[in-house]
Amino acid sequence: MLVLGIETSCDETALALVADGRRILGTQVASSLRAHQRYGGVVPEIASRAHVEIFTYELEALLAACRIQPNQIDRIAVTHGPGLSGSLLVGVAAAKVLALAWRKPLVGVNHLQAHLYAALMEHPDCALDDSRVGLVISGGHTALVRMDGIRRYRLLGQTRDDAVGEAFDKVAKLLGLGFPGGPEIERTAQNGNPKKYRFSPPQMKSGARYDFSFSGVKTAVLYQVREEMRRRPVVLRQACPEQSRGTQHERDAAHLSPEFVADVAASFQASIVEEVVMKSVAAASGARVGQLVVGGGVVANRSLRQRLATVCADLKIQLAVPSMNLCTDNGAMIGGFGFHCDPDAAKVLTAIPDLRVELN
Ligand code: KG4
Ligand code: ZN
Repeated sequence: MLVLGIETSCDETALALVADGRRILGTQVASSLRAHQRYGGVVPEIASRAHVEIFTYELEALLAACRIQPNQIDRIAVTHGPGLSGSLLVGVAAAKVLALAWRKPLVGVNHLQAHLYAALMEHPDCALDDSRVGLVISGGHTALVRMDGIRRYRLLGQTRDDAVGEAFDKVAKLLGLGFPGGPEIERTAQNGNPKKYRFSPPQMKSGARYDFSFSGVKTAVLYQVREEMRRRPVVLRQACPEQSRGTQHERDAAHLSPEFVADVAASFQASIVEEVVMKSVAAASGARVGQLVVGGGVVANRSLRQRLATVCADLKIQLAVPSMNLCTDNGAMIGGFGFHCDPDAAKVLTAIPDLRVELN
């Protein structure tokens, strides 16, 4: 069965053709990232406008590259949540029109479940019916779930404030690094000392031991930046050419030394990686499932991937990690997962911006 996957939940307009849930015939992805960079975060209006402008070009390019005619497509799968409302609506409306015009069944896909499926679709040795723990870490979400097969999910824990990717993005901003912050922190951290500062996330009570909280870590970085500013000689603090521009944080960050920024980035990354890895393996051990699957943009972080691999190998937990190009938002995970979902009535499918990870 050939499925056209459509993903427009944030700033990527992504399409893919996937056969039988696993074989990726081709993918297209365009991002409006550059248009958002000057604002330091995704601007919803710009993102949805960009989806409208690029969608048909991407679709034509995908069909041409794969040499596929619409009549060879069996089903259309689209992300219907969670995500930015306007962005989701563009993808859902486009999918409905295609389903009606081409007379194809349509399925709405949960973006977070698709992130978890991304690793499984690449690893034929992972039986889809098995029970496992799933960790989703993206720009907007952080959750640990128990999966029984790929259609039943139970929430084990989630963030109480910032998502992991959001914490990377906000800390990058405090350090004067670019957007999105995750790749920038990772690059900068290579030159830093991960043990220079301690930014530990808070301990959770026993009933919520798989919950996360990252806002305190972000505040600790802010205090460290302020402390560093106080230590710098007054003359250096005042000699900034960009003095009158940007936010106070940006003006402060312009005075920070590269060594300080690298050490904070490395220490921050190390503390986040440790928190995420340790909670995930604890959840996998606690659930007695012996398998962990991870997904979402933050999984592109090499330090996280290495630590996960090491700890899971030590504890004999079978780990499934998506390849780099299936970590961030893509159409292949939607087309792949859409193969396993029941078709919706095209008339009732709509965007659900706050769709929860455990719901279909
Ligand atoms: O899954 P995704 O592409 O979009 C959402 O569904 O949110 O994730 C985007 C997030 C951003 O916050 C970005 O900073 C983060 O993933 N990210 C990373 C890395 N690459 C992307 N975080 C840490 N290290 C990376 N290498
Ligand atoms: Zn995502």
